[in-house]
Amino acid sequence: MRKITFAAAAMLLASPAFAADAPGDAARGKQLFVDQGCYTCHGFVGQGGPGLRLAPDPLPAEAIAAYIRNPAGEMPPISAKLLPDQGVRDIQAYLASVKKPPKLADIPLLKAGE
Ligand code: HEC
Repeated sequence: MRKITFAAAAMLLASPAFAADAPGDAARGKQLFVDQGCYTCHGFVGQGGPGLRLAPDPLPAEAIAAYIRNPAGEMPPISAKLLPDQGVRDIQAYLASVKKPPKLADIPLLKAGE
């Protein structure tokens, strides 16, 4: 068995570090966003609804994990058991993959009357 030094063990106990070392997988995140029901309040692409807009430009995965496990408002808490750190990282990757909408000035239809 591998030995853990006292200092390392103490650090592990002191701070439950965000345990997602693999890069987020946007396809898996999209699936989780639906399976976990996030879309019901935040919209299919995180555009917002009863819940806040989450994309484009989502919060970092650590911040998302911190919020959903201890929400301060209307949002129901989502435990690490239900959605582990890696799942949060995947959801963050999905939200980060959402493209920004075009600028109004770049939408031809809106310029038709000019
Ligand atoms: C029942 C509705 C509901 C569901 C389901 C839900 N949320 Fe939320 N969420 C909210 C609301 C409402 C807020 C606004 C703050 C508050 O009232 O808690 C929020 C806030 C957030 C925030 C903070 C955003 C910010 O900019 O501060 C994040 C991140 C978030 N939700 C992620 C998620 C994820 C990820 C899921 C799925 C695992 C999820 N939410 C599921 C309703 C929901």
